[in-house]
Amino acid sequence: MRTFAIANQKGGTGKTTTSVNLAAALGEKDRRVLMVDLDPQHSATAWFGIKEAGKGVLAVFADNAGLEDIIHPTGVKGVDLVPSSAWLVGVEKMLAGEVGAETILRRHLERLPPERWDYIFFDCPPTLGVLTINALAAARELLVPVEAHVMALGGLAQLLHTVEVIRDRLNPKLKVSGILACRVDSRTRHAREVVEQLRQRSGSLVYHTVIRENIRLAECPSFGQPITQYDSKSAGAADYRALAQEIINQEGSR
Ligand SMILES: Nc1ncnc2c1ncn2[C@@H]1O[C@H](COP(=O)(O)OP(=O)(O)OP(=O)(O)O)[C@@H](O)[C@H]1O
Ligand SMILES: [Mg+2]
Repeated sequence: MRTFAIANQKGGTGKTTTSVNLAAALGEKDRRVLMVDLDPQHSATAWFGIKEAGKGVLAVFADNAGLEDIIHPTGVKGVDLVPSSAWLVGVEKMLAGEVGAETILRRHLERLPPERWDYIFFDCPPTLGVLTINALAAARELLVPVEAHVMALGGLAQLLHTVEVIRDRLNPKLKVSGILACRVDSRTRHAREVVEQLRQRSGSLVYHTVIRENIRLAECPSFGQPITQYDSKSAGAADYRALAQEIINQEGSR
């Protein structure tokens, strides 16, 4: 079982788009994925059309509920979901000053049956608050979607610094599995230069696959489908399938 935090404290970089579509692309390849929506905006939960999720993942933090007890099917092959809800917004205040608050998720993750899923994805909110810290303390791997703009690279340095701190204090096993360039408009020189700069700075940490700007990716949440179903022949579907294959290939080199 591989566990991924999909995180970037910057908003709108493609975290949820990547979580949902990568999960679906892995599902197509007969892999089983459990997505955990950790965002109070609950975009991933809404994407799958789950409306009566109750407290969802808040129950794990507030009531010590087990992750296994709040899993919903998604209708997408191979993909299950632990939903979120707007109530999750209160969790930062609720956990402030609580002993062990940062490792709640890790303790629950350890109780999941290890054979049931091949991948666990934590779709993080755009903050470095207690929810993202919980994901970074629980996961072995970090996947960072970045937008192909110069502005986005500054935030990346901050995130990588946080990863160092988490490694020192909470989770020595955490590694950056990959930085993913998202929304790359290959027609503009700027986007190409940013990807180039990213490769110069972070080298092998950057996935070979880049996710192109593709309107079909922006449309598919409204239709409640991942891109692989919504428009199987689109550039977006091709890119997320390529990423799924790249991630599977990493397993050969371990
Ligand atoms: N490759 C792409 N091409 C076109 N639109 C995209 C692409 N990737 C993401 N988007 C759109 O950009 C917006 C932000 O994407 P997304 O919600 O995945 O980011 P996020 O990092 O999860 O945001 P938040 O920080 O709010 O959680 C969405 O409207 C999404 O549809
Ligand atoms: Mg999101």
